[in-house]
Amino acid sequence: MRVLSGTQPSGELHIGNYFGALRQYLALQEDHECLYFIADYHSMTSVRDGKERVKLTRDVALDYLGCGLDPQRSILYRQSDVPEVCELSWILSTITPMGLLERCHAYKDKLAQGASPDHGLFAYPVLMAADILLFHSDKVPVGQDQKQHLEVTRDLAQRFNHAYGEEVFVLPEPYILEHLAVVPGTDGRKMSKSYGNTISMFGAPKKIKKAIMGVTTDSAGMEDPKEWNQTVFQLWSLFADKAEQEEMKQRAATESMGYGHVKQEIHERLVNYFAPMRERREAWESRPDDLEDILADGAKRARALAAPVLSAARNATGLGALR
Ligand code: ADP
Ligand code: TRP
Repeated sequence: MRVLSGTQPSGELHIGNYFGALRQYLALQEDHECLYFIADYHSMTSVRDGKERVKLTRDVALDYLGCGLDPQRSILYRQSDVPEVCELSWILSTITPMGLLERCHAYKDKLAQGASPDHGLFAYPVLMAADILLFHSDKVPVGQDQKQHLEVTRDLAQRFNHAYGEEVFVLPEPYILEHLAVVPGTDGRKMSKSYGNTISMFGAPKKIKKAIMGVTTDSAGMEDPKEWNQTVFQLWSLFADKAEQEEMKQRAATESMGYGHVKQEIHERLVNYFAPMRERREAWESRPDDLEDILADGAKRARALAAPVLSAARNATGLGALR
């Protein structure tokens, strides 16, 4: 079973990303062959600054390694180090109906905002299909927002296999973590970069503390029973086991307790929880050459897996040398 997932380099990781996605993605490396890549080609549809892309790309690599990606066991690579994906993207684009892409939400949203989308954004789902199909990926862990792109991928694999009469591509299964609770942001809405309500994972400690202290609460006083179903307790529960949660729930309902105290605890627990990951990330950060070596090795291994698949697609379509 081969697992593949890509992450766009688009800014600081927050604890919602970790509990809602990354933690589960990385758990898969325990018993699967995993490929994780940094989707720098994809980021070109939004980031138009080369230096910024270099930095953001490096940050994703550091985040993954910090969070426990094992580069021996799993393959970590930068998408643009595997240019085969662009060739496959072209091949797939020739069997992609325009209507299919016109229905994709990233493009539709942009149109709805009145912006004029470029061809890259329009073709984005085809590139994503190429990322996946190039490796005969069986399982693709993604967030809910990417579900449609996986349907497009399966559709394109089928269309290609049908058009050329060969089972060149494997149909991937989405692995969507719908069962997981959404992590609330400091204002109680879903934690998201676009709401500016995040608690960063590896950001400046002062900023993290400030965000936690700013979590919204109701107006219950010290002595009042507290509503358990509140953002502060949801965040606190991320760092507590079931028994501790039960105990805190009791205390919240019956004992004198200030929200400031709960926030203080969230802060302490969060710092302890992420400390080993932060240290590991910093260790990689201080060895940029080793980090590049890991990415180069990942690209080499990824290209070796991609070669026979691309070659099968070229053969089926009659591209390249005459046989
Ligand atoms: P953002 O909303 O901050 O832009 P992304 O869309 O980049 O986050 O999310 C990357 C991954 O993290 C997705 O798979 C998504 O499901 C997960 N994720 C993001 N925010 C949350 C959250 N608040 N709770 C749970 N999972 C989340
Ligand atoms: N489009 C995905 C996102 O924005 C990133 C991505 C690109 C991806 N290629 C992929 C995810 C292939 C999974 C598989 O989050």
